[in-house]
Amino acid sequence: MSNSLRIALVDPNDQTRNDLKQILSGIGDAWLESDCSRYEFFVGLVNQSRPDIAIVGIDSDAEKAIYLIQQINRESPETSILVASAKTDGQLILRTIRAGALEYLPVPVDPEELSTAIKRVRRQRPAIEGEESKECEVIAIAGANGGVGTTSVAVNLGCALAQEPDHSVALLDLDLALGDADVFLDLVPEYTLADVVQNVNRLDIQLLRKSMTKHETGLFLLPRPVDLLEAEMIAEDSLIKVIDLMKLSFTHLIIDLSKSYNALDKAAMEAASRILLLSQLDLPCLRNAVRVLMNFEDSDDLKSKVEIVVNRTGFEAGQISLRKARETLNHEIFAQIPNDFRTMVDVRNNGVPLVTQSPKSAIAQSFRRLAKSLEPSSDGLVIAPIDDDQHVKGWKKFWPGIQH
Ligand SMILES: Nc1ncnc2c1ncn2[C@@H]1O[C@H](COP(=O)(O)OP(=O)(O)OP(=O)(O)O)[C@@H](O)[C@H]1O
Ligand SMILES: [Mg+2]
Repeated sequence: MSNSLRIALVDPNDQTRNDLKQILSGIGDAWLESDCSRYEFFVGLVNQSRPDIAIVGIDSDAEKAIYLIQQINRESPETSILVASAKTDGQLILRTIRAGALEYLPVPVDPEELSTAIKRVRRQRPAIEGEESKECEVIAIAGANGGVGTTSVAVNLGCALAQEPDHSVALLDLDLALGDADVFLDLVPEYTLADVVQNVNRLDIQLLRKSMTKHETGLFLLPRPVDLLEAEMIAEDSLIKVIDLMKLSFTHLIIDLSKSYNALDKAAMEAASRILLLSQLDLPCLRNAVRVLMNFEDSDDLKSKVEIVVNRTGFEAGQISLRKARETLNHEIFAQIPNDFRTMVDVRNNGVPLVTQSPKSAIAQSFRRLAKSLEPSSDGLVIAPIDDDQHVKGWKKFWPGIQH
C-alpha cells in the first residue's frame, strides 16, 4: 500500500517481539521497517529513520522502557508511540502515557486491536504533517515494440528526476530476461530483484536500500536477475511487496517493463500511478500501441493512468505525422522525445546518462521537461499541442524534394 505507515519495534523479549512481527506482517497499511532487541540502541534507530510509529514492548525493563519513551517523544516528536505490555498495573499505564505513549496494548497483543490502534494513528497524522504530499510517484514505462526506447527513457528520466535535491529516485528493471538498465548506467550491482524477492519476508527499508546500487546521479537501481531461471521464481505478490516497500523509501519509482505484458508487468502497471506507453511514429509501433490501449479499455484504472510518449520524432522523412498518430491512437500525445542517434549511441556505449554525457542537448532537455511534467503540480502535456505543419516545414528546409 502506497501510504503504509512505517513502524519500528523494540522488545528485548524474543517471544513477544516475534509475535508482534508476525501480527504486523498481516496488517496491510503498516510496514515493519526495523526491529530491535535492545532499548539502548532504539533511540538512535528512531532518530535515523523517523518511523511513523514506534512500538515499545516494556516488560523486560519498565524503567528503561519509560525513559526510552520520553527520549523518543522529545527527540522524534512526529513518531507515535505504542506500548505493549502484559502488566495491567494502572500506575505503570499512567507513567507510559505521561512519558508520551499514545496507546497501551495488552500482551498477548490482539491483531485487531493493534490494527485499530494503527488506524487511529493514521487518522491523526495527515493533519499533523500533510502526509498526502509524500506519496511516491510510480512510473511504469511500457513499450509498443522491442527497441522502442523504454530503457533509454527509464534510465534518463530516472537520472533527470534524481537531479532535484528533494527527490529520491529508484529504478526497477522488470525486463527480467534481457533487461539492461545496469549497462546503461555502467553499474555492476551486487544484488538483483531475485535476491530481494528471496528475502521478502524479512525485508525492511534498510535492507532494501542496501540491496540496491546507487548511481552517481543519485538514482538507485534494482536490476533484473542474472540467472534466467531466477526470473521464473518471482511471484506477483512478492513483487508487489517489494514495490510497496520502494514506495515508502523513495519519492519516485521508475519501472522498466518487459515487452511481454506478462502477469508481473500487469501487477507493476496496476501498482503504478502512471504508465508511459512509448511508441515511435511507424506502423508496427502504432498498431501495437492501439492494441495495448484496447486491452487497457477493460480496466478503468489502467486506462486512466496511461500516457503516450512518442520517441525519436524527426527520425526519418517518411515518419507518420504526430497528428495522424494522435488520430490513430485516439489519444493525446503526452510527450515527444526527439531522435538523436549519435548522442544516444554514446549514452548507451559509454554507460553514461544524458544528464552527464550531454546535459545541454535538446534530447536531455526533453527529458528534463518530461520529468517536470510528471510533478503533481504540473498541468499535463509536456509539449504544446502538436503542430505538424511546423514540423513538416522544418523537414522541408533540409529535404526540399520530399512530398508530404
Ligand atoms: N530518442 C532517441 N534517439 C535516438 N536513438 C534512440 C532514442 N531512444 C532510444 N534510442 C536508441 O534505440 C535503441 C533501443 O533503445 P532501448 O534499448 O532504450 O529500447 P528498449 O525499448 O528498451 O529495447 P528492448 O526492447 O530491447 O528492451 C538504442 O540503441 C538507443 O540508443
Ligand atoms: Mg530495454
